[in-house]
Amino acid sequence: MNPIPAISTAPDAPIGVFDSGVGGLSVLRHIRAQLPHEHLTYFADIGYAPYGDKPEAVVTARALAVADFLVTQGVKGLVVACNTATVAAIKAIRARYPLLPVVGVEPGLKPAVAASHNGKIGVLATDRTLSGEKFLQLRQQISANSGAEFVLMPCIGLADQINLGELDTPATQALLQRYVAPLIAQGVDTLVLGCTHYVFVQPGIEQVVERTSAHPVAIIDTGDAVARQIARLLHAAGLARTPAEGDAPARLQGYTSASAAELSAAFSNLLGLNPPVHSVTF
Ligand code: DGL
Repeated sequence: MNPIPAISTAPDAPIGVFDSGVGGLSVLRHIRAQLPHEHLTYFADIGYAPYGDKPEAVVTARALAVADFLVTQGVKGLVVACNTATVAAIKAIRARYPLLPVVGVEPGLKPAVAASHNGKIGVLATDRTLSGEKFLQLRQQISANSGAEFVLMPCIGLADQINLGELDTPATQALLQRYVAPLIAQGVDTLVLGCTHYVFVQPGIEQVVERTSAHPVAIIDTGDAVARQIARLLHAAGLARTPAEGDAPARLQGYTSASAAELSAAFSNLLGLNPPVHSVTF
């Protein structure tokens, strides 16, 4: 592995946010809303997506390489806006950068238990997330404490559709029907979006629920909690940006390991934003 780059400790430095693709934009949206003064650098590893069907060691190595890239870009904090990369690599990232504020995303099992009335909870996530040791431990611990039953559904191919911008096409609708309807048939009253991509197809998930469920179903996403956590960590470390009058407004920029045009289109279609986007290889 390469030498460890030095981390930035300037409040004016950006926060790095990354995902295998466009899913992390669902988290970035909350970070922008809660921390409007912070500069943000987003990395979409679309050239290596999806992470969800790769061996854990491959995802770990790639997530470390992305963390190195973002640290080299001068970030003062890091949000791993990807459940799959969090399960596989957050420990390794924290070990490599012990002084860097790092926040990951995990399927929201705890908030799901709080929202559920019947204790039957469906978890939609990638295969890699659902079979990772970190997730299995979380699930076991929360089941033991709450008695909740978690029904796991690996959604193979769904993140790819979302990276392609196919949020509401017949192929995506068919995948949603295939993955959500069996959970409803098993009686779940709460669904956890355990992949940051799936937030962007929540309307399609709700349509399947409406068609197939006799009772309301709560849908849990943790983007807001993740934004609050990075805000807390930066504040505690004295790294929050507090611009003075006349200072430049917060900057947003994107990097991707695939085509810049593809990520630009996602920024525009999913968030209505048009930041500068660069394609990089490493
Ligand atoms: N967005 C990612 C997550 O939260 C995964 C998508 C992928 O399979 O690459 O798990």
